[in-house]
Amino acid sequence: MQNILNFIEANKDNHLSQLIEFLKFKSISTNPEFKEDIKNCANWLSENMKLAGLENVKQFSEYGNPLIYAEWLRAGENKPTVLFYGHYDVQPVDPIELWNSPPFEPTIKDGKIFARVTADDKGQVFTHIKAVEAYLKTNGNLPINVKFIIEGEEESGGEAIEEFIHKHSEIISCDYVMISDTEWYDGGNVKNAQPSICYSLRGIAVAEITLTGPNRDLHSGTYGGAIDNPINTLCWMIAQLHDKYGRITIPHFYDDVIELNDQERTNISNLPFNLEDYKEDLKINEVNGEIGYSTIERATARPTLDINGIYGGYIEKGHKSIIPSQASAKISMRIVANQDFKKIIELFKVHLQNLTPPTMKLSIKGEQGGNPVITSLDSKAIKACTLALKNAFDKEVVYMREGGSIPIVELFQSKLNAPAVMMGLGLSTDNIHSPNENFSLRNFFGGIKASALFLDEIGK
Ligand code: BES
Ligand code: ZN
Repeated sequence: MQNILNFIEANKDNHLSQLIEFLKFKSISTNPEFKEDIKNCANWLSENMKLAGLENVKQFSEYGNPLIYAEWLRAGENKPTVLFYGHYDVQPVDPIELWNSPPFEPTIKDGKIFARVTADDKGQVFTHIKAVEAYLKTNGNLPINVKFIIEGEEESGGEAIEEFIHKHSEIISCDYVMISDTEWYDGGNVKNAQPSICYSLRGIAVAEITLTGPNRDLHSGTYGGAIDNPINTLCWMIAQLHDKYGRITIPHFYDDVIELNDQERTNISNLPFNLEDYKEDLKINEVNGEIGYSTIERATARPTLDINGIYGGYIEKGHKSIIPSQASAKISMRIVANQDFKKIIELFKVHLQNLTPPTMKLSIKGEQGGNPVITSLDSKAIKACTLALKNAFDKEVVYMREGGSIPIVELFQSKLNAPAVMMGLGLSTDNIHSPNENFSLRNFFGGIKASALFLDEIGK
């Protein structure tokens, strides 16, 4: 094993310059204008995986953005097969003016590499490819069988991989799924971050709603006071969606929620957490949320409803005295086991329709989502991952829930019957989905070692 770790140490510059190449592709999946960049990125990554020594590298492009598949299956049938999953697509970069360096010109500063999607998820998934490469180039073989499936539309719904799994789950059949697309736990202060294994993700349900009032924008002097204003009404409707206890008011919304048991609540309350650090990091005076739950519980184990964007009316410079014809909002709900995103979207639609006054027409579009997931901590792969992280970073490992979503993980567990191991490498300061996204070089290089140690450990 030491020779492999030495190889990784000796190849740091090489690994970093490859990551920089990878980060230059504008593989934004939420906007169809970037289709060509997605394709180029997929081709570059496929080539890199071939050079790493992976075999049977191919792209499945008939379902949507290319899914990249690769394998190395020569360890024999009595060795486990681990499927590595990740995504090469990225979120949009705006507001671009808040970036200190251009999002697709990777820049190294203060031990971090700044670029869009460096932590979420290119940098993280790349650690596994480089670990496999280090193993193959040093030893000529791997201690286990591996498969990779890297998708290009995780940030925009992930329909392609879903269809692929429904049609071809045998191609990616495996004993475990390894995913690095989550974060280290730090209790509110990144200085206290510890290597973390995530055992639960929230699901997500999104929709965009539009209220239409009058057929055109109107003079707010001539008509104001006589008819309903869609923006006023939309704001009122949104305000009805939570009660004074911070609970969501959609009827039957909580019906399927599995409450945290006492043991887990104790475990969560034993995680180090500093509320003052947490508030200071966000520059807020107070936290707020559902009554009866701690901040960590609220942010990881309870369902939520948030407005992600709201638009309508006049927002350019100066003032325009109108009653707008329309108002819209983009909404996301985070859901927890055992809620189902399709059911939640239906409940949401019925409730919104009921809230809509007769003065308005309601339309809803863009409904999509993914289900939550909980994985057992009691597997050989979790033990191997724990040891690997501990040895790579020389720190204790914590087990945590994440509030974010990786929609496909639930399908991996239910369709492939393979438990997921989520070895997160991100930090709370990585600014994922925000300007100045970055990935710590310590976690990049350490992640390659952790992945190699994981291969070694699970192959024993
Ligand atoms: N890597 C994130 C999920 C994540 C974020 C895990 C933070 C842990 C901590 C993932 O790429 C992501 O952002 N997912 C989206 C999914 C959505 C667009 C369907 C999310 O959670 O918003
Ligand atoms: Zn993301």
